[in-house]
Amino acid sequence: MSSKVDTGDYKDTSSKVMKRVVYNRFGGPEVLEVEETLIPQPKKGQVLVRMFATSINGGDLQVRNGGSGKLINKFAKFPKTIGQDVVGKVDKLGPDVTDFKVGDMVWGNTTTDTNATAQYVVIDTNKLSLMPSKISPIEAAAFPCAGITALVALVDKGKLKAGDQVLIRGAGGVGIFAVQIAKALGAYVTVLGSKATTDELMNYGADKVFDYRKTSPEELELFDIIFDTVGTEQDAFRKKLKPDGKLLTITISVSKLISVALSTRHGQHRTRLVIAFPNRKNLTYLAKLVDDGDIVPVINSIYPMERIVEAHRHAESRGILGKIIITIP
Ligand SMILES: NC(=O)c1ccc[n+]([C@@H]2O[C@H](COP(=O)([O-])OP(=O)(O)OC[C@H]3O[C@@H](n4cnc5c(N)ncnc54)[C@H](OP(=O)(O)O)[C@@H]3O)[C@@H](O)[C@H]2O)c1
Repeated sequence: MSSKVDTGDYKDTSSKVMKRVVYNRFGGPEVLEVEETLIPQPKKGQVLVRMFATSINGGDLQVRNGGSGKLINKFAKFPKTIGQDVVGKVDKLGPDVTDFKVGDMVWGNTTTDTNATAQYVVIDTNKLSLMPSKISPIEAAAFPCAGITALVALVDKGKLKAGDQVLIRGAGGVGIFAVQIAKALGAYVTVLGSKATTDELMNYGADKVFDYRKTSPEELELFDIIFDTVGTEQDAFRKKLKPDGKLLTITISVSKLISVALSTRHGQHRTRLVIAFPNRKNLTYLAKLVDDGDIVPVINSIYPMERIVEAHRHAESRGILGKIIITIP
C-alpha cells in the first residue's frame, strides 16, 4: 500500500493530462500544434514544474525548420517538443530531492530536452535555481537561455574586464543581454545591430551602434572581445581583434569547425565556439544581476501558448528587439 506525504499544495498529477506544443515534421511555424498528453513524473534528481511562461529562442526556429542538418534530421523522432526556457512553480519533487520544495518559484533551462512549451515540465534540479524576486514570471522567461549564453560567453570564456572594447555582433535575443552584461561589467560596447533599433540599443547600454546591413568589418576599429551571434564572415571579423583579443561565437557552420578548433589552440587571434549550459550556479548569478538591476528584461511581445504559430511567425520576422514570451494557461 502506498502512503502520500503531505506537501502543502501538492496534487496528485500522475494520471492527469496536460497541453504541450509539438510538431510532426520539420517546417515553418504552421507545423506547430497543441496536443494533450499525460503529465510527466519526476525521477530521482528531478522536479515537476507547473509552467507559467517560456520564450522563443533563435535555436528553436532553426531546429523546427530542420536546420540541424540532414544527418541529424534523418534520425529525428516525432512528435518533437519545443522550447527550453522554464519559469514556474515546483509542483512535485522526485525521490530524494531536497534542494527545492513544492511551491518554490524557479527558472531554468531544459537544454537539449526542448520540452518547455507545455503546462508541466520535468527537469533536473541542477538546471534550475530560484527565479529573481523582483521581476514577474513573464519577465523572467526572457532570460534563461539567452541571458546565460551571454553571461557564459563574456564572463566565463571572455574574461571580460572593465575598460575592454567589446563588439556585440547581432542584437537579437542573446545580443541584447550581451550588451547589458558587457556594459554592467564596465566595457565600452559597440553593437552591429539593426538600424531601426539603434535608439533602444543605446538605452540598454550600447556606446556605439552600427547598422549591420551597411557596415563592413573593415570599417570597424580593433576590439578586445568580439561576441558573434551570427556565425558568418568570421575570418574578416578576426582581423578586427587586438593582439590578445578573442572572437567568441555561439553559432558556426559545420565547415568551419576544424579551423575554429585549430585557432583555439594555435592561432594568435583565437576563435572560441561557446556552448552555454545553464546550471544552478550561473542561473543564481544571473538572478542576482537581475535583482541588482544590472540587467533588465527586454520583451517584444507576449502570446498565449494556443497562439504558438502566430508567435513563431512573429519571431521569424526581421528587425525585432527583445524576446517573444509564451504564457502557459
Ligand atoms: N551556443 C549556444 O549555447 C547558443 C545559445 C543560444 C543561441 N545560440 C545560437 O545563437 C544564434 C542567435 O540566437 P538568438 O536567440 O539571439 O537569435 P535571434 O533572437 O533570432 O537573433 C538574431 C539576431 O541577429 C541579427 N542578425 C542577422 N544577421 C546579422 C548580421 N549579418 N549582422 C548582425 N546581426 C545580424 C538579427 O537581426 P535582424 O532581425 O534585423 O535580421 C537578429 O537580431 C542562433 O543561431 C542560436 O541558435 C547558441
